[in-house]
Amino acid sequence: MVQVKKSQDLISGLKEALSTPVVLVGMMGAGKSYLGATLARQLGLPFRDSDKLIEEKAGLPVTDIFADFGEAKFREAERNTIKDVLGQGTSVIATGGGALTSPETLALLKKDSIMIWLDADIETLWQRVQKSQTRPLLKTDDPKDRLATLLAERKNLYNQAHITVKTGLGSQQKDIDALIKGLYEFLNKDTV
Ligand code: S3P
Repeated sequence: MVQVKKSQDLISGLKEALSTPVVLVGMMGAGKSYLGATLARQLGLPFRDSDKLIEEKAGLPVTDIFADFGEAKFREAERNTIKDVLGQGTSVIATGGGALTSPETLALLKKDSIMIWLDADIETLWQRVQKSQTRPLLKTDDPKDRLATLLAERKNLYNQAHITVKTGLGSQQKDIDALIKGLYEFLNKDTV
């Protein structure tokens, strides 16, 4: 009989096997911050959120950084922040949705992390971000169309992640279980 391992068993295995930062990438609304914080707590690892770190350092919210300094400056800060946290030992890191648009960040994450794409469909993403006032890239006349365009433009970047996990499965518990399973299977590729 095939034994289906529960998340709790997988977590114990992960705690032993993990020695590389786990980095969550994907669109706004994919669940990077929530799922990242939950995963980190379960693994007993520090959790870092690149947007939060950038905001703390700048003393400004992301929207103001975009408005006052432009997207290019934000991407530069994002690249430096991600580089810094990757050098701070094993942790779980949530990135901003556009982090991989920097080729340097993409190369760094491919080399020095286990990169996980949280892949949610456009309806799920839209449902989660439509009331948000904190996403400068969605301040347009047709934010849903913008979101869909960004997703289409970025899919080939997200696809370069080491692992793809579908999210928006109906409950946060299902999403966290899928994330833990994806990570476990990646680390035990040869034995699972
Ligand atoms: C962005 C996503 C945001 C934030 C910034 C730009 C993007 O983060 O970094 O508004 O380019 O998709 P979340 O993905 O956490 O919303």
